[in-house]
Order: sequence, then C-alpha cells, then structure tokens
Amino acid sequence: MALLQNFVVFEGCDGSGTSTQIELLNRRFGERGRGDDRDDRRQTLPPVVCTFEPTDGPVGRLLRAALRGEVRLRGETMARLFSADRAEHLYGENGVVALTKAGSLVVCDRYTLSSRVYQGIECGDELPAVLNSGFPAPELLLFFDIDPRAAFERLEKRPHKDIYERLDFQIRVRERYLGLLDSCRAGGSRVAVMDAAAPVDAVAQAVWQNISLLPVIKNRIVQ
Ligand code: TYD
Repeated sequence: MALLQNFVVFEGCDGSGTSTQIELLNRRFGERGRGDDRDDRRQTLPPVVCTFEPTDGPVGRLLRAALRGEVRLRGETMARLFSADRAEHLYGENGVVALTKAGSLVVCDRYTLSSRVYQGIECGDELPAVLNSGFPAPELLLFFDIDPRAAFERLEKRPHKDIYERLDFQIRVRERYLGLLDSCRAGGSRVAVMDAAAPVDAVAQAVWQNISLLPVIKNRIVQ
C-alpha cells in the first residue's frame, strides 16, 4: 500500500468522539480566514477538507440505511460496499487523492481500518484485507482510544442505535483496533493514540499537536 501524504484518518469505536474532534479541527482551520484573526501563523495553514466514510454518495447512503437496520445486507456485501464507497471517495470527482496532491490537508472520519475491524468481525479477516489492500495508507492515523463501556454510555443518550452499536460488539472492535495498529505502522503510517476519555478540549489539543507535526503544516508555520 502506497503512502498518501497530506491524508489523515481518525479511527475509534462508536462513541469515541472522532466526529466531534474533526468538527473542532475544521473550525480551527476555518478561523484563519476571518479578518479579526491576529494570529499571522494561521494565515499560512493549507486548505483543509474534512470528510467521512461511509460517504454521503450513493453507495454511502445505502450503507447508512443498512447501518440503521432499514436494509438487511450480509457482512460480505457490506464489506464490498464499504470498499466501493471508498474507491469513489478516493478517486471520484474532487476525490481525496486529487485534493491531497493539490496540497490540501484531507482529514477523514474512518477509513480502511474500520473495514478491517468491523467487517473483519462479521466476515473474517481475509475479505476486508483483500478488498482494501490497494488503497493508499494515510500519512497519519489517530486512534481514539476509550473503554467501550464509557463510549457506550455516550451512545445510550442517542435516540437510535446502529447495528454495530452493541456493547459486546464494541468490546471486540476495540480489541481488534489495538491488535491492528502495528500493521498500520508497518504500512508506513504514523500512528498516534489519543486518550478519548479525556475532556474534549484536552483531546483537541492532543489532536492539534499531532496535526501540527505534519510537513504540510510544519513547513508553513513560521516558528
Ligand atoms: P460513524 O462513523 O460513527 O458515523 P455516525 O457518527 O454518523 O454514526 O458510523 C459509521 C459506522 O460505520 C460505524 O459503526 C463503523 C461503520 N463502518 C464500518 O463498519 N466499516 C467501514 O469501512 C466504515 C468506514 C465504517
């Protein structure tokens, strides 16, 4: 798997706060455009594109319906759909690969590791590994680590639950994540583990510390 520079992925079990942290990061980058921003260093940040999988494209929408339990699909079908959605996300119009090559920083909520973890539980390691072997690896992978029980308490507050949002399943999800991080390192990605049980601001700070180490950021910030 080739390494894709300027591509960052957030991963974690359901309720680990990846979406919240991407939103906060997006805001941090967005602030640089404002006229009242007196921090000149921010003016030099590259454009950032925050995105997610499953996407909001046609395949992603089908996947979301299946995640909500409205459409019943076999685990293997889900694995194939996640990789089809990913192919479109990477190589379709305004895709991740084109954006990163043009110098944007792309930050994605979930990627191939989600397939290896979640679909791996459902249909074994081999199919998700094969389906995802051709996709480029992210330059940086942030794993949001939290006890699934604590994450599950956050999920309990939501009105609806997705098919994977069961405590026994999420306990296996975390174990699989932890077991696969070394293979991500071996694939060339820098991997950092975030303490996702910490207060939101502290997690955001840890995220920024890692993002600011990326050459696309570091080379532009005047120290
Ligand atoms: P999530 O990212 O938590 O989105 P939201 O906050 O909108 O609910 O949910 C997406 C779900 O999809 C999550 O349970 C993990 C699952 N998923 C897979 O099983 N395989 C994959 O390849 C991806 C990208 C996601």
